[in-house]
Amino acid sequence: MRTIEWRDGKVITIDQMKLPHEEVFIEMKNCEEVAEAIKTMKIRGAPLIGAAAAYGLALTAYHSKANSREELLAELERCGEMLRRTRPTAVNLFWAVDRVLKKANNVEGDVGTIAEKVVEEANLIAEEDVEANRRMGKFGAQLIEDGDTILTHCNAGALATVDYGTALGVIRAAWEEGKKIRVIATETRPKLQGARLTVYELMRDGIPVTLITDNMVGYVMYKGLVSKVIVGADRIVRDAVINKIGTYTVAVLAHEHNIPFYVAAPTSTFDLDKTSSQVVIEERNSQEVTHVLSVQIAPDGVKVLNPAFDVTPLKYVSAIICEKGILKPKETNFELKLESLNLIDSQ
Ligand code: MRU
Repeated sequence: MRTIEWRDGKVITIDQMKLPHEEVFIEMKNCEEVAEAIKTMKIRGAPLIGAAAAYGLALTAYHSKANSREELLAELERCGEMLRRTRPTAVNLFWAVDRVLKKANNVEGDVGTIAEKVVEEANLIAEEDVEANRRMGKFGAQLIEDGDTILTHCNAGALATVDYGTALGVIRAAWEEGKKIRVIATETRPKLQGARLTVYELMRDGIPVTLITDNMVGYVMYKGLVSKVIVGADRIVRDAVINKIGTYTVAVLAHEHNIPFYVAAPTSTFDLDKTSSQVVIEERNSQEVTHVLSVQIAPDGVKVLNPAFDVTPLKYVSAIICEKGILKPKETNFELKLESLNLIDSQ
């Protein structure tokens, strides 16, 4: 299930706003279309947003009519700016834009050579994401036992990445190893990524899944129905994991019930130069709260708060699974340093 693909100067992806009822593929031909798809959440999920942004730059380079290197680099810079303004929280977006622009600036040669290398770099980012998810899956599966029921929040599956998924990648890997597991998926208001996307992915794979509303998490934990929690991340900073709104509530409840709380994310989601107070939490449109899908449920004119992400301090995180291994924040005194990751079971 590949979520994004480069095909002869076009980028193909599935429109996630139409799932699960319609499987509509969209074709993007320029940077503006990619930026629009990210902004409107046809494309969403931190690693996928990163790969899409890289492809936005690739489209600009591939179709450019620039006559000089300087002209092309300026066009790429403008596309990068447009992409950076789409969504503020997932760091993969900024990481991918910076990486591709750096590549373009460092290439020696003419316009054609730069364009070729930019497309190559975007494809590499996409390939690396799939590889990272597969590796993360293998590491993470070691934490999953036969018979576990795993609660997940939002969608950190193939749809949120280029393929396979982060949190759902771990679940898939455990399932592929023959472990008999079950999943509880939260619906994830307001955009319902859990109900629409996680359930869709797991049912396609034949992995048993039960859907609950977000306010049922406490109840299922209290009843002893959850063995582990696994979620993805939009940004991991020195003191916290920033992920879909509601993650913090799940983490605190897991802590109270002694349930391990795991985060699965590639190192492209790590932003270890920052702490949580330096990260912009995206505030989205009030209509996402006053309406469920397109049906209005609240009275006209009500005041609304709609932060798209929240901040989970590392004290609630039992382990972070990345493509390099398993990091236990508690054992590193919350001081996450990429250079000195306290890895167990790394290759
Ligand atoms: O607003 P979204 O749907 O882009 O947010 C996605 C999430 O919060 C995911 O849980 C996170 O990106 C991890 S994706 C592998």
